[in-house]
Amino acid sequence: MNKEKADGFYGMYGGSFVAEIIRRPIDELEKAFRKQSQDYTFLTELEELRRDFIGRPTPLLFAEKTSRENGGAKIYIKAEGFAHTGAHKINNAVGQVLLAKKMGKTRIIAETGAGQHGLATAATCARLGMECTVYMGEVDVLRQQPNVCAMEMYGAKVVSVKTGARTLKDAINEAMRDWASSFEHTHYVIGSALGPAPYPEMVKFFQTVIGKEVQKQSMEKNLSIQALVACVGGGSNAIGFFAPFIAEKSPRLIAVEAGGKGPGLGENAVRMKGSARTSIVHGYKSKFLVDEDGQVRNTYSISAGLDYTGIGPELALLGEEGRIEFTSVGDREALDALQLFAQNEGLLFALESAHAAAAALTIAKTMKANEVVVVNMSGRGDKDLFISAPVFRADQWKLFLQNELARLETGTDVHDMKMQMGEEA
Ligand SMILES: Cc1ncc(COP(=O)(O)O)c(C=O)c1O
Repeated sequence: MNKEKADGFYGMYGGSFVAEIIRRPIDELEKAFRKQSQDYTFLTELEELRRDFIGRPTPLLFAEKTSRENGGAKIYIKAEGFAHTGAHKINNAVGQVLLAKKMGKTRIIAETGAGQHGLATAATCARLGMECTVYMGEVDVLRQQPNVCAMEMYGAKVVSVKTGARTLKDAINEAMRDWASSFEHTHYVIGSALGPAPYPEMVKFFQTVIGKEVQKQSMEKNLSIQALVACVGGGSNAIGFFAPFIAEKSPRLIAVEAGGKGPGLGENAVRMKGSARTSIVHGYKSKFLVDEDGQVRNTYSISAGLDYTGIGPELALLGEEGRIEFTSVGDREALDALQLFAQNEGLLFALESAHAAAAALTIAKTMKANEVVVVNMSGRGDKDLFISAPVFRADQWKLFLQNELARLETGTDVHDMKMQMGEEA
């Protein structure tokens, strides 16, 4: 059951609300997507890139120790974090950059918040020989320096956006502005299942590989799945994971939003279970955290990938219809789940995915021992070390940073300096 209609609407959500100038590239993109998504050569090349560049299929792992300790259902993990560049974002980047190449484009632009989508796009552009510019809010550039550095190493130009709140939404606006004057040779790779049609449908198409692999792997392992759990920023890992199961009554599909620090205004990014309003932002209609005047409100989550102000239109509809259940998990609970899965299973979840892991633990407890819940580990946590290390090991981390600064500024480290000053290091 495809939820999208030909006009790109999912019930009342979705559509394509763009300035006249963007109409032409959007129409051109839609035509190319319809053609290439049915084309044998395109699909074969995509399959090869998935296998040889991304490293697919990603495994489906049994979390044996955690399941035993937790009680209730068996917990399985779809390890998207094993994909090249560390998250599911590369499934979409590879698909869209390949499509752009078929369209004769030579340049790619992208927006990025946490940096994962920018990183995936930059790596793919390097691989496929495309010029790449990534727009990133100045605030994100400062807090996600390791990803900025990696994008530049892949040859991408990272533009620091200094308008508005200087975060993801401003980066999207700036990328749109670029596209309006460059679409003859440039394609804009949107990183989640949102934006004007046909982006939500197209991103879902490229991310559905996650759900299809789970279907195949669960058959091979003789598993009958009762519940799937995924975190939701804009919604691309969730919709791709859920896609092959949406038309059926089972399994339960559970989407997890960021509960942040608590229920207060600006303290979380809970849209479906929170105070989101139907609005039009970034070229599509959906549920957004906006004020009475339609201005986008500030959001917060410890995970940079979950604090987007809106939600993809298909998820908004499926949530309203009740096919997808929404819940939320706060920072603390996500950090606890991260630590538990790292120590029990040897898997370091991304902070985003740790929200889904925490929800899976709660849900599994309410299920029977012969039932199965699969959690999508949308990314791995290496990228988050600069955020999670100060939480788990504040003193050692401070010392590490002091050392790094000293080493860069003076060529010596704190230990040497203290020795020189006659102090014990
Ligand atoms: C690892 C990871 N998971 C989840 C997300 C959330 O995005 P989406 O809802 O599009 O899957 C992000 C976004 O950056 C991410 O990096």
